[in-house]
Amino acid sequence: MFAVHLVAFYFTKLKEDQIKKVDRFLYHMRLSDETLLDIMARFQAEMEKGLGKDTNPTASVKMLPTFVRAIPDGSENGEFLSLDLGGSKFRVLKVQVSEEGKRNVQMESQFYPTPNEIIRGNGTELFEYVADCLADFVRTKGLQHKKLPLGFTFSFPCRQTKLEEGVLLSWTKKFKARGVQETDIVSRLTKAMRKHKDLDVDILALVNDTVGTMMTCAYDDPYCEVGVIIGTGTNACYMEDMSNIDLVEGDEGRMCINTEWGAFGDDGALEDIRTEFDRELDLGSLNPGKQLFEKMISGLYLGELVRLILLNMAKAGLLFGGVKSSTLLTKGKIETQHVAAMEKYKEGLANTREILVDLGLEPSEADCIAVQHVCTIVSFRSANLCASALAAILTRLRENKKLARLRTTVGMDGTLYKIHPQYPKRLHKVVRKLVPNCDVRFLLSESGSTKGAAMVTAVACRVQAQRKQIDEVLALFQLTRQQLVDVQGKMRAELEYGLKRKTHALATVKMLPTYVYGMPDGTEKGKYLALDLGGTNFRVLLVKIRSGRRSVRMYNKIFAIPLEIMQGTGEELFDHIVQCIADFLDYMGLKGAQLPLGFTFSFPCRQANIDKGTLIEWTKGFKATDCEGEDVVDMLREAIKRRNEFDLDIVAVVNDTVGTMMTCAYEDPNCEIGLIAGTGSNMCYMEEMRNIELVEGNEGKMCINTEWGGFGDNGCIDDIRTQYDMEVDEGSLNPGKQRYEKMTSGMYLGEIVRQILIDLTKQGLLFRGRISERLRTRGIFETKFLSQIESFSLVLQETVKELAPQCDVMFLLSEDGSGKGAALITAVAKRLQQPRREN
Ligand code: BG6
Ligand code: GLC
Ligand code: GLC
Repeated sequence: MFAVHLVAFYFTKLKEDQIKKVDRFLYHMRLSDETLLDIMARFQAEMEKGLGKDTNPTASVKMLPTFVRAIPDGSENGEFLSLDLGGSKFRVLKVQVSEEGKRNVQMESQFYPTPNEIIRGNGTELFEYVADCLADFVRTKGLQHKKLPLGFTFSFPCRQTKLEEGVLLSWTKKFKARGVQETDIVSRLTKAMRKHKDLDVDILALVNDTVGTMMTCAYDDPYCEVGVIIGTGTNACYMEDMSNIDLVEGDEGRMCINTEWGAFGDDGALEDIRTEFDRELDLGSLNPGKQLFEKMISGLYLGELVRLILLNMAKAGLLFGGVKSSTLLTKGKIETQHVAAMEKYKEGLANTREILVDLGLEPSEADCIAVQHVCTIVSFRSANLCASALAAILTRLRENKKLARLRTTVGMDGTLYKIHPQYPKRLHKVVRKLVPNCDVRFLLSESGSTKGAAMVTAVACRVQAQRKQIDEVLALFQLTRQQLVDVQGKMRAELEYGLKRKTHALATVKMLPTYVYGMPDGTEKGKYLALDLGGTNFRVLLVKIRSGRRSVRMYNKIFAIPLEIMQGTGEELFDHIVQCIADFLDYMGLKGAQLPLGFTFSFPCRQANIDKGTLIEWTKGFKATDCEGEDVVDMLREAIKRRNEFDLDIVAVVNDTVGTMMTCAYEDPNCEIGLIAGTGSNMCYMEEMRNIELVEGNEGKMCINTEWGGFGDNGCIDDIRTQYDMEVDEGSLNPGKQRYEKMTSGMYLGEIVRQILIDLTKQGLLFRGRISERLRTRGIFETKFLSQIESFSLVLQETVKELAPQCDVMFLLSEDGSGKGAALITAVAKRLQQPRREN
């Protein structure tokens, strides 16, 4: 009994001494809680630096956007190929993600060796090798000639601008193939695959192993939003708010960021923590000065760190009686698996002895205890360092979400984490100590990164298929040059029909004579009132024209026309107009003034004179009763009479296109076309009198209001009308009418977009297939939204140039609207009236 106690006492004493000795020797490797908190704070700053646009170029922690925007939602399915390159093993896999809801994934895989001459040789040969392995796998599984999407887990830092592309920033770990850095991995592999004729593979996603791990775990636990690898290398990714990612456009939602934390410290930020052993290890590595954090943590380096320490202790006479074996002197002879074995609970000491003997040493009991403790310190430091950086990420997540407590899951993988008996426990404990306000679940990824990479590929695949479907729908709107030339020809023919006496009555493009014969010549002068009705706004204007100087002063007021008036009775409409005129005169202090008035009335009117216009039919949003077939000038006169407050001399009724042409012609005498692309769409131009069969006389020119909005009402452009155009037409105030206008003008474009959105949603291609109540509401998608997204005027100008190459056209925007032109026309008409009256 006593003897047993004595032995136990002796052993405890021996252990204590050895531990103390090692502790003293490795004092610098034992990190206090304050140091860990300090490292955590430093890593927080590094993340911030990597995310900032201006600071990223010099940041050592690159914080790479991955273009993975969401975790799996269970709706993923399909059959995928997968490659997994960059960890301790290279695998090719077939992944079957099955039917919705069941969350069932089946994988078949095959490992392939990665000999050093391949991974450190010529880059092109490396990709050819990868392609050969893939081809071999495809043949073994009988998948030749079957088009399969592929997800590529590539565990190195890549700069991505989309999911299916990634430029290698630098090799890390054991890889160092020549001529690959700064090239796109996806195109390199795609090119290498071309050699295999029976291989039909589409690489849809390039994924870092951390991202694959996060996605694998998130498939089972939707709380998972971080992925950590502690394997050959070490790294982490997490879901960051888009608004914090300067390098990617957009602020909505989140995106996974591959931190590449292995490079933490490459700018010297960890020099106070690195030891002489870390420096020695770094100097002997493939990438000196790089991945300094990784070299203190990951599996590729831990064994080597232990070896260097043992060697130094032996040199100092602290181990093995000062004897160094030649094996111990050889780089790489202690591996992470040895470290793990030496730290095993019960067999640890025995394992240690065995391993040391294998290294050609003759260890004493004390040596074994000391070596075991060296392993513990080295692997504990690794877990501590990882914990600090992970704690920084968790804190960032919690702060992003503005939560006092964060509940989250971290997906874990990597050989060191998996094979080391104490590692996970230690890591978890330190993380929880560093971030007491986070409830963290650590979830081991049982099926590697590949399952997650397949999820990413599945989503990419669905997005690609959807994009194709969307493109098909939108292709209907992308008219070819030939189609446009056809439309041009048909329009030309319709313009001719409208002008000819024989065909005019049936023509859909009405070609209305306007009785405007000439352009302003600068001699116009005087004060005029103008009305501008039929566009977005109703305006009343006072226009003062000063002769000679081509300068005009205008005062105007905008009035709303309520829907019930637009679609009420004609009398109500014109009474309302007169009411607005009265308000305006009042406002201008012109009550009782008897001014000549020009009436811009933007609807098709048959004119027999400049001051007579019979409304043919309403277009756009107007539908007041008892107006069609009536002279709108008379209606206005009667309304003025009804009010019996003032008198106005209505001199001219003018279409808005004509008013616009006049406004512009006042500045540029070459102007001979007026075009409106507004609520409605229409054009007028100066035509030779001899071509206008409806009007007597062959001399000079007259302005023709084409009313081209009605083009196609006879079905002549039905070949380019889409189902959406038909739907918009059916829902309009004038079904079957103004078909061209409904494909071109502001009142309808937003509606067309809305119809497309509804259809794409019905097809499940948008908004998760759910049509909101608001989207169902007619008119909710305004045309101004389109112009906020797209700009049209250049398209118009360029297409005109292309289709009418012989014409040198200048486009002049009428800044002052049609009102000014209407006043000018009134001035001209007034001048012409005088001699008539005098006669
Ligand atoms: C695996 C992944 O599970 O973990 C690999 O599928 C990854 O892509 C690896 O690189 C990391 O661990 P290790 O230890 O193999 O580098
Ligand atoms: C290295 C790589 C990184 C990878 C990690 C784990 O750090 O640079 O991309 O995630 O190893 O495999
Ligand atoms: C409608 C009208 C037309 C007007 C055009 C632009 O097409 O019918 O007269 O010029 O809209 O406002």
